Amino acid sequence: MLRPRERENTAVLTPDELRIFHRDGCVAIPRITSPAEIALLLEIFARLFATGVGRRQGAQYDMLSHEEDAAPRTLPTIINPIDYARELRDLEFRSNALHAARQLLGPRAVPSFEHVILKPPHIGAATPWHQDEAYRVDAGFTYSQVSVWMPLQEATVENGCMHYLPGSHRFDVLPHKSPGNDSKVHAIECVGDFDPMQGVSFPLPAGGATLHHGRTLHYAGPNRTDSPRFAYILAFEIPPLRASKQRSFSWMTEKRTPSILLKRQWRRRGGFVIEGWRKMRRGLWLRPRQFMFEIYRAFRALTPSSKCTDSTEAPQNINHFRPRDGQPK
Ligand code: NI
Repeated sequence: MLRPRERENTAVLTPDELRIFHRDGCVAIPRITSPAEIALLLEIFARLFATGVGRRQGAQYDMLSHEEDAAPRTLPTIINPIDYARELRDLEFRSNALHAARQLLGPRAVPSFEHVILKPPHIGAATPWHQDEAYRVDAGFTYSQVSVWMPLQEATVENGCMHYLPGSHRFDVLPHKSPGNDSKVHAIECVGDFDPMQGVSFPLPAGGATLHHGRTLHYAGPNRTDSPRFAYILAFEIPPLRASKQRSFSWMTEKRTPSILLKRQWRRRGGFVIEGWRKMRRGLWLRPRQFMFEIYRAFRALTPSSKCTDSTEAPQNINHFRPRDGQPK
């Protein structure tokens, strides 16, 4: 089972970086892992994309096209690549990202999910402006989440580095939609009231990282260079609680992507057992509160009457997301 590697120094973020994060909803740090680990990750992810692992389980897909299309994959991703490569279980990046998440969210922060995104040379597409919380399938919970985004090569404006709208973590979840109003496309884009021209680019060295809150609006440009752009993202959260107010993320409940259908078919063929085992192997059994959330969410998914009612009001009071003065206990 996974346990964070013991390290003496658990303060990944400096006091200044913590202050910037809580002011802007995002912060960049110059290094979160070693060059040797970056080289290892590049090798692993090139292999995982080339061999198509997880495609039949709905875990590897293109975020912007229908998988049955012959069209080139312009924004391929693998969800929870840790399930397909043992080498990813014990990483300096994983340990440091967890410590940073606990500095931001407090000691109850736990790993939520992870993915790797590839922007192929020349055709790698832009990731539309969005808030990560808008991707949550069940809007009936309160979420406090942080994502740690690490490029595996230098990230520049030319190859698709991150752009953030500073301060947008104080917004509610804004309306989103599927690109082209096509519910068979996995990605979502924000159509709420914000000015993308106020976005700020965050170029980074390989092995650096940006950290952003679940409501911070962000975007990554297309890859116009000759080299692939990989980014590995680890997400953390405080185990969600049921929301007192109801809301609906219609853009997610309407989704009918080929990867969702593949995942359902796989689960029906017995994949749910493997899925449960993988969650335990990722350490879910060590986190009773998150375990209860998973059980409760699965139960809600099976009972249509328990789905959320329509409301655009977000239930989460962002004020509870405060800087922590201490280190994780
Ligand atoms: Ni995102």
